[in-house]
Amino acid sequence: MNSTRLIRQLACCNMALLAIAVLLCASLSGFAQGGNGQGGSNQGAQLYESNCAVCHGGDGSGGKSESIITPNFVTMSDADLAKSLHDGTSAGMPPYAGLGDANIAALVRYVRKLQGQSDTTATAPVTGDAAAGRALYFGKAQCSSCHMVQGDGGFMAADLTAYGRSHAADAIKQAIVTPDSPLEPASRVVEVQTKDGTKLTGVIRHENNFNMDLQTEDGRYHFLVRGDLADLHYTDHSLMPHDYGTRLTPAELDNIVSFLIAAGNATPAEPVAPRRHGFGFDD
Ligand code: HEC
Ligand code: HEC
Repeated sequence: MNSTRLIRQLACCNMALLAIAVLLCASLSGFAQGGNGQGGSNQGAQLYESNCAVCHGGDGSGGKSESIITPNFVTMSDADLAKSLHDGTSAGMPPYAGLGDANIAALVRYVRKLQGQSDTTATAPVTGDAAAGRALYFGKAQCSSCHMVQGDGGFMAADLTAYGRSHAADAIKQAIVTPDSPLEPASRVVEVQTKDGTKLTGVIRHENNFNMDLQTEDGRYHFLVRGDLADLHYTDHSLMPHDYGTRLTPAELDNIVSFLIAAGNATPAEPVAPRRHGFGFDD
């Protein structure tokens, strides 16, 4: 009895010491950086270090939370970034409205710096041949079997008509070569087996507590009653092939990227649906 209380007190004491140590460290590092001068990107760096690094890592590549230097965040507009910082997100990002707009703007600039936007990403020249890219898209690379562009192509995956307008060349190439980073939950391929032994692989398009619509790769919909299922397994990938980095030459990839950018620029401006909603049920 006594000893448990002692241990508890010790543990408690340790916690308090730890908290003090953490606070000390935080204020010391804040102090040290305070000497680096005011304003500019230093202000952003300091704010980032003290508010954000704990979750996103000192270089933005993630830690407790996910990386914010992956293409899908690189391609967010400054206004959207600022809004996420101001309001927080439903995915667990805390709101920082209390920092004030000037500090949020400084943070956005610093996040851009971490993303390398200032040097290459946004300005990477588009060197490919868009016409050759179109031929690949609808031909050898078979992108059109899943993705529509300008009214032509399949329904299995996102319509890419406007994609090239809101995404930088490097980000588009990344999305093709390293798909599913991160994987949209709604794009996950699921494998189901019914109690009568039928096996199906596809993507869930609609579901509720009792049933679901599964779309298989041939485009067909299968209405399934949950009670009839023997097994339901979520994979860790979408239907997007993972081998384009080896199947296509760098020049071919550049051509496809150029085609998507040309298609995007030829499309009249309209609001582009935010990427992270995918085929979800929330919009
Ligand atoms: C408590 C942990 C935590 C802290 C602290 C934190 N974040 Fe986040 N952040 C998250 C999580 C979780 C997400 C959700 C990831 C997502 O949206 O997919 C996120 C998302 C983001 C996004 C993407 C927003 C979006 O709309 O998808 C950006 C940019 C970001 N954080 C930057 C920052 C910056 C800058 C700071 C410091 C001011 C910060 N974060 C502090 C956890 C944190
Ligand atoms: C077998 C189907 C399939 C093929 C073939 C395919 N994709 Fe995809 N692609 C997907 C799926 C599924 C996703 C995940 C997002 C979604 O569900 O739309 C995706 C995602 C993408 C994204 C990111 C879209 C976004 O909204 O973030 C791009 C860009 C893309 N594909 C381009 C291509 C290109 C270019 C080709 C041809 C070189 C290609 N894809 C071939 C199925 C396919």
